[in-house]
Amino acid sequence: KGHQPLEGRHVLITAGPTWEAIDPVRYIANRSSGKQGFAIAAAAAALGAKVSLVAGPVALKTPKGVDRIDVESAADMSQAVKDAMPADVAIMVAAVADWRPKEYRDEKMKKRGSAPPALVLTENPDILTNVGASDKRPTLVVGFAAETEDVLENAKRKRKRKAADWIIANDVSGDVMGGDENRVHIVSDEGVESLEQMPKIEVAMALLERIADKLTMPEAA
Ligand code: C5P
Repeated sequence: KGHQPLEGRHVLITAGPTWEAIDPVRYIANRSSGKQGFAIAAAAAALGAKVSLVAGPVALKTPKGVDRIDVESAADMSQAVKDAMPADVAIMVAAVADWRPKEYRDEKMKKRGSAPPALVLTENPDILTNVGASDKRPTLVVGFAAETEDVLENAKRKRKRKAADWIIANDVSGDVMGGDENRVHIVSDEGVESLEQMPKIEVAMALLERIADKLTMPEAA
């Protein structure tokens, strides 16, 4: 087989939700099927990359040629991402829970009395921001922004705030969550490129082709 566009490149991807345990039987989480992240991992492998896929709890098969690291919480995901570095490209697709319960109860909390327990939350690490600020920063850092309103404005702000090179904005006000299609806008320092709605695997291929082009441009490492 001939030369592949991402041959010799390490692509690090997060996908799926995180689960933040309250007690042995309960957790809080974000809604995420992991489908878009897994499609991106499959596309990166198909283009010849070495792929590390850090996956939260999802019911999906590991794509061919992908090195999968299963995690549950945001803290575990953060550590797994650090362990998998360095990488040429980071694509953070996971729907990481912003907060976790401040305290984990070793025993199942009981329904007793009248008042439900107060859940005290604390902030999780922002994995995308930490990768962008890392001294081993990948050449290209890509984040996702799932928004229900002001999709592009929020994505542009997020790109700056999180020190990401690209933010892939997707409008999740429709039935994107758990569905097989997605409509995305690629927000970079060059502006916005809006793609048609298409299957998630085609979104993944379109994105990875652009990433391969970017990496082979003269000013890239
Ligand atoms: O701020 P928001 O959660 O919308 O940002 C989404 C982007 O940031 C996604 O790329 C997501 O994977 C990443 N993220 C992260 N760690 C967090 C929260 C979000 O990596 N704790």
